[in-house]
Parts: sequence; C-alpha cells; structure tokens
Amino acid sequence: MDTEPAVTAAPPAAAGRQGLPEPLGAGFLARPEETLAEIRETCPVARIRTPGGRPAWLVTRAEDVRAGFLDPRLSLSGGRVPDPGVRRRALDVTLVNYDPPDHTRIRRLATPALTPARMAAHRERIERAAGELLDAADAARGRGPVELMDAFARPFAFRSLCEVFEVREGERAALYEPVALLADKTGHSARAVEESVARIDAFVRGEMARREAAPGEDVVSRVLAAWHEQGGASEDEVASLLAMLLLAGFDSTVQAIGMSVAALLGHPDVQDSLRKEPGRIPRAVDELLRWDTPGPFSTKRVALEDVRFGDTVIPAGSGVLLSVAAANHDPRCHADPGTLDPDRRSAGRHLSFGLGPHYCPGSALARLELTVALTVVLGRWHHLEPAVPLDELAWGGGYLHRRLAALPVLPDGPA
Ligand code: HEM
Repeated sequence: MDTEPAVTAAPPAAAGRQGLPEPLGAGFLARPEETLAEIRETCPVARIRTPGGRPAWLVTRAEDVRAGFLDPRLSLSGGRVPDPGVRRRALDVTLVNYDPPDHTRIRRLATPALTPARMAAHRERIERAAGELLDAADAARGRGPVELMDAFARPFAFRSLCEVFEVREGERAALYEPVALLADKTGHSARAVEESVARIDAFVRGEMARREAAPGEDVVSRVLAAWHEQGGASEDEVASLLAMLLLAGFDSTVQAIGMSVAALLGHPDVQDSLRKEPGRIPRAVDELLRWDTPGPFSTKRVALEDVRFGDTVIPAGSGVLLSVAAANHDPRCHADPGTLDPDRRSAGRHLSFGLGPHYCPGSALARLELTVALTVVLGRWHHLEPAVPLDELAWGGGYLHRRLAALPVLPDGPA
C-alpha cells in the first residue's frame, strides 16, 4: 500500500502553523456544514490542523464517512489494551476509547437496556415531565420570551434520563450538579471536575447496590442483569459504563433539542405543518438530526495501518475525523440537502448517531426525547418565533461538540 497520500490535501482555508490549513476557525460553530461542504467538494479527504493545534485527516463524503465508521483499521483505542487489574472510576471506561474485543464485551451489557421497546415503556413519564416544564415556563414568562435551553431543554433531558434510570426524586437535584458541570466544564477548576467525577462514581455505585437488592425495569437493573448473565466485565467497568450512559446521554440530547427547535424557528412553514400533523414528527426528527447535530465529527480515530479513501491514502499513525455533518449534507446521499424536508425519505440515512460498532446506543432514547419535546412544544404554543435573530445566537463548546448557549423564543399563547 502507498505510504504517501496521492492527493496532498489543501482545503480552501488560510494555511496555519507548519503550512497546514486550519479551516475550523471562527464561524465554524454556527454553520459547520458550510465550511465542510466547501472542503467536501474541493478536497474530500483533507489534511488539516484542528483548532487544538493537532494535525488530522478530515473525511467528508458520505460514502467514505460510512466506510470509515465500519473500518476496524480506524481505531478508537489507538491500539492500547486496557489492563483489567487497574481499578477504574466513573468515565475511565468510555467505550469510545475501546476497540473490539474489549469494546464488545462491555458494550453488550448496555444495548439490551436501551432498546426502543424499553425506552417506550418510560414514554408517559417523559411526556408528563415535558408538560410540567412548559407549565412552569408559561407561568414564569408572563407575555415575555422563554429561554428554551434553561427552561426546557436542559431540565427535560435530565428528567428523561432520571426516568429511564428511575433515579429517586430526592436524589435528582444533587445528581444534576455534577452531570451539568461535566457536560460543560467551562470556568470550572480541575478540582471541581475531579469532585464531580467522584460524585457520579459514588452515585452509580450506590444505585448498583440498591438495584442488586431490589431489581426493577430501569437501565441500572437491566445492565446488572446482562452482566450477571454474560459476565466478562469487572465491577469497576460496569460502574464506569453506567456513568458514561448518564453523561453521554445528557448534553448531546440537550443540544439536539435546541438545534431542532432553532431549525423550526428558521422554517416557520415546516413548524406549522408539523403542528397541524404531529404524526409526522417522528420522521421529521431524523431530518432535523440530519440538518444539524451537536457533533459535526466522529470521535477522533487513529489509522492503525495505511487506509485508502478514493485516491488518497491516509498514512498509518494519523488522526482521522469522519465528518458526520459533511456526510449529512452530501448531495450524493441526500438530494437537495439545503432543504429542510420533514418527509425526506433518505433522512434515516443520516450519520448523526454514527454507524457500526460504536453506533450510539442511546439513539432510541434520544429519538423518543426529541419526538416528545417537539410534540409538546408545538402542541402547547401555536406560534413560535425567535426572540433574537437566529444568526445572532451564541455558540459555544468546541468543534467536536457544539453547544447552543441560549435559545430565547417568543411563544404566542397556548394552542
Ligand atoms: C441526539 C442525541 C445524541 C447524539 C447526536 C449522539 C451521537 C452519538 C455518536 C455520533 C456516537 C458515536 C461516536 C463515534 O463513533 O465516534 C455516540 C456514541 C455514544 N452515545 Fe450517543 N448521542 C446522543 C444521545 C445519547 C444518549 C441519550 C445516550 C445514553 C443514554 C448516549 C450514549 C452514547 C454512548 C455510551 C456512546 C458510545 C458508544 C460506543 O462507543 O460503543 N448517546 N453518540
């Protein structure tokens, strides 16, 4: 196999340190698909420097991104094998740092706990949570705007997680603090982060003990049942897996709710049509996930060998980012990708949950939360407008996980 790339990538952006282009700069967080479309159409496998200063290869065509997710030579562990003798705390085992076979033996404990059928069993309580939060938002606003991230997206995503984990009422407020801090560490000290990890660790181990004594239908009980049946993981690994489910399940969904509502604010016709026919919302959820996603890229992979995409060979040892957002807007996969079409037939082919062995195990819960959130918001408010121009929304986070800081909306009375 070639060791040098046949195409030396030069996406259209100013050359940065050591001559590599740095295309993921200012403006990227607000509209990643624009930058990524330019790269995809001019240099589909591009060598760049990330905002963190590291060189990486960007893969942007849908076909290549799909192949990349399925290619075992693109490793998440970088070839490291975990030492089972090492004691692990919350977040030491993050699944996205493991490759098969270690990845497989741990992940299979989680998947049966998170199937669409298991998640649907919690739907009623999740719907009730959404209704109560909008009642509170309506009571607090008078006729003024509602900041939807604080009033709804964050508490709703957290309460949904609490419902599927069946967290006791009295423990929820204390759990929210470390979950929210770890989701956005901005402005927090290393010590505060450490303390939050320790609190989540203690919470998860307490829940494991409680559910060993009195199993239920919740996620912890289901993971423990799979563990007792299949074995193959240490207690520390199970605790760490549960902590990861809690954390990975929070901000990604918060942001997906915010971004979906923002998309509907920018497309009042789609908003109205879904309000009139809420039965179309589940399919629209996939189109909204295609349209915008918190994670424009996969977690970074490392090429264990030379890997060829079309004419380009990514050399062994390189960091590789598979661009989900570029693939979701690739006209070779989705016709007229710049149109938000809630009935799009190809919508389910979006890659916002990844693909292959690391495909998001929380996708059923995320889809349920988005469906309930949009159904309840559109049903409650018969008209929804942005309270600030959409191109002035403040974006934070980073190029791997974008975050909508606030989403002020003006609801026009109950429907
Ligand atoms: C709309 C919301 C969500 C989005 C956009 C999302 C996206 C993703 C993506 C793209 C991956 C694959 C990463 C890669 O291969 O590089 C992933 C993995 C993961 N997600 Fe989600 N996710 C969401 C919600 C959730 C929820 C609700 C949970 C848990 C309840 C969750 C738990 C996880 C876990 C544990 C992994 C790692 C899986 C593995 O490595 O095998 N996610 N997610």
